Amino acid sequence: MRKKLFIDGKWVKAEKYTSLLSPYNEKIIAEIPVATLNDVDQAIAAAYHAREKMAKMPKHERAKILENVASLLEQRKEEAAHIIAQESAKPLRTALEEVNRTIQTYKFSSEEAKRIHGETLPLDAAPGGENRIGYTIREPIGVIGAITPFNFPMNLVAHKVGPAIASGNTIVLKPASQTPLSAFFIAELLQEAGLPDGALNVVTGRGSLIGNQIVQDERVKMITFTGSPQVGIAIRNKAGLKRVTLELGSNSAVIIDEGVDLRSIVPRCVKGAFSNQGQVCISLQRIYVHKNIYEEFVDRFVSETRTLTIGDPLHASTDISALISKNDVQRVLNWIEEAKQAGATVATGGDITGNIVHPTVLLHTKPDMKVSCQEVFGPVVLINKVASVEEAIQFVNDSRYGLQAGIYTNHIARALDAAEKLEVGGVMINDIPTFRVDHMPYGGVKESGIGREGIKYAIEEMTELKLVVINRQ
Ligand code: SIN
Repeated sequence: MRKKLFIDGKWVKAEKYTSLLSPYNEKIIAEIPVATLNDVDQAIAAAYHAREKMAKMPKHERAKILENVASLLEQRKEEAAHIIAQESAKPLRTALEEVNRTIQTYKFSSEEAKRIHGETLPLDAAPGGENRIGYTIREPIGVIGAITPFNFPMNLVAHKVGPAIASGNTIVLKPASQTPLSAFFIAELLQEAGLPDGALNVVTGRGSLIGNQIVQDERVKMITFTGSPQVGIAIRNKAGLKRVTLELGSNSAVIIDEGVDLRSIVPRCVKGAFSNQGQVCISLQRIYVHKNIYEEFVDRFVSETRTLTIGDPLHASTDISALISKNDVQRVLNWIEEAKQAGATVATGGDITGNIVHPTVLLHTKPDMKVSCQEVFGPVVLINKVASVEEAIQFVNDSRYGLQAGIYTNHIARALDAAEKLEVGGVMINDIPTFRVDHMPYGGVKESGIGREGIKYAIEEMTELKLVVINRQ
């Protein structure tokens, strides 16, 4: 299956192609176009020319296009889930959850398109402001460069494309090299949904070259990126005065206080740790459990983990499949080995079948081990014993990252204390840090990034606030 670039509303052949392999069985899935510098330039030019049309398009028309794409995706959701599962090795059931969320993301984008507005200002609150009327409007920023990751190849594209279209911008999209098919699929649906030519362009191939070109082109006014902190920081350094939203990684944690009901909490934590093989920015990586219930928690967690089914991502019963690349398999194994050498014990997992790393639970880890202080982005979780919620908060905060954190407790005062003290973008009380629905503000502090996604909040990032003042005299 030979794919084409999507530039200015046309499907364009490339000069060169590269084979896309399944992360699970390494068989060829498709031939992916390798965009040249000229192709990328054409894509940016198309987005640049389309920007006025998109900016002038009435909000109800933008909303209609987004509503159309949501219903087209609803009609083809099994196919969409299959594409995600095939190219990313996300188990089919989890892929279907992603498609359902993607539909929500486009629906929220459609609704928010109608709600973009400014406010009136009481200018006479300042001496000299008398007899003036002030109001703000939100204008589209122009061309947005979107660089998206492999782990949610459809929904994280939607989190950039949806609000960009809702707010009248145009986009040049560079999807992750391993997951271009989901992006091409969405481009096809958006075209069918009525998006004008040039409003969305999709370029694939040599990832870092394309990324650099988009980041450095003056016609591009904003970069929205989800991926690793290293790449995010490099983008920020090169972007000059462009607006930049960065959704980066984390080593997310949950605190389990004494006295909570572990029967429902443990399965939820297992899902948070191992969903999509742990390749989620808010995957549960560190668990801090009160000493009075630690042994029970570990026993229940390990038994529950052992019920997970590993296998082919295209099988309906699979819970855990391959990591995205062989390098990642090796990296995760090395980190586990390093932790073992330094005194950690493996309660379950720690081995592989093909490119699948078995869900792994580590005990007796130390904060400076890579499995603790870096982002594993694999199916590895640590369970640590703490004397109090207060102590756990200190461990959670001892991190370069700060995306989301969770706390389970029956004590409202402890929950509120944690909400205040945890250094993260979002605190989930009586839930795992992995909780996300698509309209909530989502983003981090420290090395987890800058800016917020979640449609309404992404629209704020993607629009320029303009002030209008009328002097009545
Ligand atoms: C991410 O991995 O950044 C996104 C997580 C999610 O949308 O659930």
